[in-house]
Amino acid sequence: KRRIAVMTSGGDAPGMNGAVRAVVRMSIAQGCEAYAVYEGYEGLVQGGDMIREMKWDDVRGFLSEGGTMIGTARCMSFKERWGRLKAAKNMVVKGIDALIVCGGDGSLTGADLFRSEWPSLMDELVEKKELTAEQVEPFKHLNIVGMVGSIDNDMAMTDATIGCYSSLDRICESVDWIDATAESHQRAFVVEVMGRHCGWLALMAGISCGADFVVIPENPPSGNWEEEMCKVIKKHRDLGKRKTIVIVAEGAIDTNLKKIPCTVIKDLLTNKLHLDTRITTLGHTQRGGSPCAYDRMLATLQGAEAVKAVLEATPSTPSPVISIVENKIVRKPLLEAVKQTQEVAKAIEAKDFARAMSLRDAEFTE
Ligand code: F6P
Repeated sequence: KRRIAVMTSGGDAPGMNGAVRAVVRMSIAQGCEAYAVYEGYEGLVQGGDMIREMKWDDVRGFLSEGGTMIGTARCMSFKERWGRLKAAKNMVVKGIDALIVCGGDGSLTGADLFRSEWPSLMDELVEKKELTAEQVEPFKHLNIVGMVGSIDNDMAMTDATIGCYSSLDRICESVDWIDATAESHQRAFVVEVMGRHCGWLALMAGISCGADFVVIPENPPSGNWEEEMCKVIKKHRDLGKRKTIVIVAEGAIDTNLKKIPCTVIKDLLTNKLHLDTRITTLGHTQRGGSPCAYDRMLATLQGAEAVKAVLEATPSTPSPVISIVENKIVRKPLLEAVKQTQEVAKAIEAKDFARAMSLRDAEFTE
């Protein structure tokens, strides 16, 4: 029987458990055996009990759980060739030749590198007498399929990453709670949200919560933005608004690429508008908690598609990443998606913010 392994890697995201459940159950339904790699690449390098067979019942209840129940870790040894050599040996020993990885762009790039090195890793294992030629013979090729699990929604070629809508829901709920206390005291709140170098969470939260002002890295405030922001907020107050909400992406920068800390915005609101202002950093509450319906659905459909992609792969098929584009689950070339994602960072570095914005998804740039 074909053996397919699933792993979660990088920062956890709500919906990752649903992805694991779907891969396990779809693999079994397709007549394969399913394995889970515990603690991300760390488990692959360590092998043994860190790579466990999963039966149908082992993933019962996974769909509604937050985080990742098979663990994740930032693994340094997999970045080194010796680590990947150990990982390759562990996979052959377990009889696994397909790996489905749910993680961010770094984790997925690592997986594709592993695949491209695979034949040379097999040769080295035989040369070093770690494995025999007969043992490696059935494992000529490694199949890799990616699924993007990240609250940041920072991956190109997909409309949504697993976890981003749960996180957005959590942010909205939190801002609603802040609203009540802000209105009571007529206060201003500067709310910092996650997203690393991506402003999707901040921008969508701004729209969903009716924030007064939003600061994101792809379109940094320019010119005399301080005055501009104060003008907008004053206008809203003059119209009778009793509260002010400014949402700041954690990666917020100015046009000189200098970080804009929440304290700078707080000081502006306090000193120029005389608003009683507080800062709230939502932190990891945005990442934990149970996944919303959308993420459960996305993870399940993508997990099933990932198994299909493994079964249909040929040695020459480029590793795919499972995406959602205009509500359809589709396969995209993994490396191309990673490359396009990195283009955004490059555009920001080059201060070409118009390009950074246009490289983001359509709904983001409208
Ligand atoms: O990529 C997900 C994310 O939550 C980012 O939004 C954030 O910048 C980062 O991970 C935080 O990482 P850590 O949990 O390691 O502090």
